[in-house]
Amino acid sequence: MADPITPVLTKRWLSPNSWRLETYERLEGYTALRKALRGTPEQLVQLVKDAGLRGRGGAGFPAGVKWSFMPANEDKPHYLVINADEGEPGTCKDIPLMMADPHSLIEGCVIAAYAMRSHHCFIYVRGEALHCIRRLDGAVREAYAAGYLGRDILGTGYDLDITVHAGAGAYICGEETALLDSLEGRRGQPRLKPPFPAAAGLYAAPTTVNNVETIASVPYIVNGGADWFREMGTEKSPGPKIYSISGHVERPGQYEAPLGTTLRELLELCGGMKDGIPLKFWTPGGSSTPLFTAEHLDVPLDFEGAAEAGSMLGTTAVQVFNETVSVPWAVMKWTQFYEHESCGKCTPCREGTYWLAQILERMVAGRGTEEDIDTLLDVCDNILGRSFCALGDGAVSPITSGIEYFRDEFLALCEKQHPSKAERTPALAGANS
Ligand SMILES: Cc1cc2nc3c(=O)[nH]c(=O)nc-3n(C[C@H](O)[C@H](O)[C@H](O)COP(=O)(O)O)c2cc1C
Ligand code: SF4
Repeated sequence: MADPITPVLTKRWLSPNSWRLETYERLEGYTALRKALRGTPEQLVQLVKDAGLRGRGGAGFPAGVKWSFMPANEDKPHYLVINADEGEPGTCKDIPLMMADPHSLIEGCVIAAYAMRSHHCFIYVRGEALHCIRRLDGAVREAYAAGYLGRDILGTGYDLDITVHAGAGAYICGEETALLDSLEGRRGQPRLKPPFPAAAGLYAAPTTVNNVETIASVPYIVNGGADWFREMGTEKSPGPKIYSISGHVERPGQYEAPLGTTLRELLELCGGMKDGIPLKFWTPGGSSTPLFTAEHLDVPLDFEGAAEAGSMLGTTAVQVFNETVSVPWAVMKWTQFYEHESCGKCTPCREGTYWLAQILERMVAGRGTEEDIDTLLDVCDNILGRSFCALGDGAVSPITSGIEYFRDEFLALCEKQHPSKAERTPALAGANS
């Protein structure tokens, strides 16, 4: 059985010049590709299904199942698109992966593209991450020069080109269909589904969009096998995962651990709470996932465990806040982000995030009322499930969960800033009795 703490995805990260082809090849790099190209595309799709690899971009959709939606014929070009936009607040795993070990992503791309009969792969990277784009460009050049990309890869007759594309830094362009519009040169806004990308994606051709970490996991599955992969993680959420831990911990950073690891265990890995100040609240998978509190320290952080406890695994962006942080203030900051990033296509999110931000700003500035809490929840109710894409749903998560666990703090904020109102309350109560 694999040691649960032995790194898989991050095993090369601390090697000198870990991003260079020479280092990658010395540490098993491109051995999985040689093996994969000896098999058939169908065998690879089945292997990834058997391994139970689930998408690491947030939704956890089984990767092998998604690949199997791609048509078997090649009437039209097939595209593989890698989602390297990484815009979810707190998420910091894909850019470090591409910086430290870009060839693991490139090798995964060639294997996945071969499995889906694609001959062109796009890697859509967040534009602000210029250093990462340069690093990836360099690695792609190295891979072409060594015969891992281009025509007749490793003499097998298989061709693949990779294009690294720089986005312009909009959170919505991480949503897979908005990403495709942006890649086509249009304003990035989500598309109506169906048709799903496997039927009509990039340039209306069959397309699969996968996250960086999903695809970088594939070479290890090819080399290690489905059973080995399933030794890590849980039955329904197998495999290793990179948890991005930020906030009030002693050593923030990227920590690889099997899916199903708890925050209590992650805190041990990163040295515990900073200066020993107790935990107050945290996100299991970025700000779009409902908040957890100290009561949730032992929730297994896999897709099922996080959902059963009332949140979502998301991108495993674990943002940790200690007792010094005001929940309404943090919720206001996140809401300002969603208001800014709302693409404006649908009314509930465009208008709703605007009003949510206004109300929260007013509350935090001390001009709120108790009724504002009901108004916030009412606006959230009009966004959740009624928006065109998941950005709207994500925007309400911090607010509804913040009020669920810390309603008193929202109330205290109103009362503290309005002593005259607090003083009037007993008299009013008396008048009513
Ligand atoms: C607003 C929004 C932003 C998103 N941002 C990202 C992102 O930056 N990276 C990513 O991989 N997935 C992101 N997603 C999820 C993608 O739509 C898609 O599910 C994912 O890329 C599929 O890859 P996977 O199956 O490998 O997880 C986002 C979704 C939404 C609604
Ligand atoms: S939910 Fe928000 S981001 Fe998504 S389409 Fe509507 S306005 Fe755009």
